[in-house]
Amino acid sequence: MEMPTQEEITALLSLVEDPELQHNIVDLGYVEDIRIGDAAVDITLRLSKPVTPLRKAIGDDAKTRLTDALGPNVEVQVDVVGPQPASAQRAAQQSAQQKGPGKPAGVQHVIAVASGKGGVGKSTVATNLAVALAQSGASVGLMDADVYGPSVPTMMGVDEKPGFADGKVYPVQAHGVLLMSIGFVVDDEDAMIWRGPMASGAINQFISDVVWGELDYLILDLPPGTGDIQLTIVQKLKLTGAIVVTTPQEVALADVRRANGMFTKVDVPVLGIVENMSYFVCPGCGHREEIFAHGGGRTAAEQMGVPFLGELPLAYGVRAAGDIGIPVVRAEPESEQAAAFTRIAAELSRVLADRA
Ligand SMILES: Nc1ncnc2c1ncn2[C@@H]1O[C@H](COP(=O)(O)OP(=O)(O)OP(=O)(O)O)[C@@H](O)[C@H]1O
Ligand SMILES: [Mg+2]
Repeated sequence: MEMPTQEEITALLSLVEDPELQHNIVDLGYVEDIRIGDAAVDITLRLSKPVTPLRKAIGDDAKTRLTDALGPNVEVQVDVVGPQPASAQRAAQQSAQQKGPGKPAGVQHVIAVASGKGGVGKSTVATNLAVALAQSGASVGLMDADVYGPSVPTMMGVDEKPGFADGKVYPVQAHGVLLMSIGFVVDDEDAMIWRGPMASGAINQFISDVVWGELDYLILDLPPGTGDIQLTIVQKLKLTGAIVVTTPQEVALADVRRANGMFTKVDVPVLGIVENMSYFVCPGCGHREEIFAHGGGRTAAEQMGVPFLGELPLAYGVRAAGDIGIPVVRAEPESEQAAAFTRIAAELSRVLADRA
């Protein structure tokens, strides 16, 4: 069966109006997620106000329009959810007010690597980008802000504790990069069960107590998603901007939009989009194969008016290098995959220079 595209669904949804504001729900930014399956379309709408009767009317209208247009063979599911809990918003605002965004003295650019969903390669990008920038002569720090699932210790091959002296924490160094991760201090299993306040406490300490010294770049590897913990982190640090990592499939675009939306809300510029796993490089012969229809990242960047930083191959060596703790830009510096990371690092420097 021929399924509709993301764009076709969006066009149908743009016929639905918020009866109160008399404006279409796409422009109002209510469309949080569109998932297209084999014979099903699954929509999430997030309203900016928690009015229940209105919520039902908008949801029913959207469902009717999609069902009428798509026919009986496509199952349509529309979930309408309210705004993010006010308590969470307040907590984030308060913590931002109390401390105000700050950045470690001596650090020129703080750059977060983020994604709307998990497993797209944030940590792989963060570690390789950090090492590539260091290889180009910059002084670089990498902070693993994924307090729930830290990957930096494994991917950078570090199994030592940071130094503690006089209430300060001294980062560990590997592959020419200064590193800090909660994974240096607690076990993976312990980090998994951390709750919000503890997690932000740890992040606070990373920001206030870690001696980074003079850095050109401090790269942050964020936890996946666009929830409270991500908001807290980006509001606490004065970020130069964020890099959003995505995969090429069209369905990933909604996640990019969500991440972009979060950063826009807190006035953090998106410095660019990276498309990971764009194409496959055969480990034997180096032959390049397009597995997914690639190019979604570039399209998303164009639609959102942000730079496209480049695409990365899906390559056995990228994962293998991460697993043994030597990022691929260091482990196989002559490879196509290493070159792709190096190009992205160069593109990032260019974007930063343009903004200066
Ligand atoms: N381009 C690539 N080629 C091959 N393997 C890759 C590539 N990018 C990432 N991987 C592998 O995919 C897995 C997930 O990547 P990674 O941990 O970087 O994602 P993440 O977005 O940080 O995940 P999480 O959301 O859990 O933090 C890892 O095993 C990694 O080695
Ligand atoms: Mg990660």
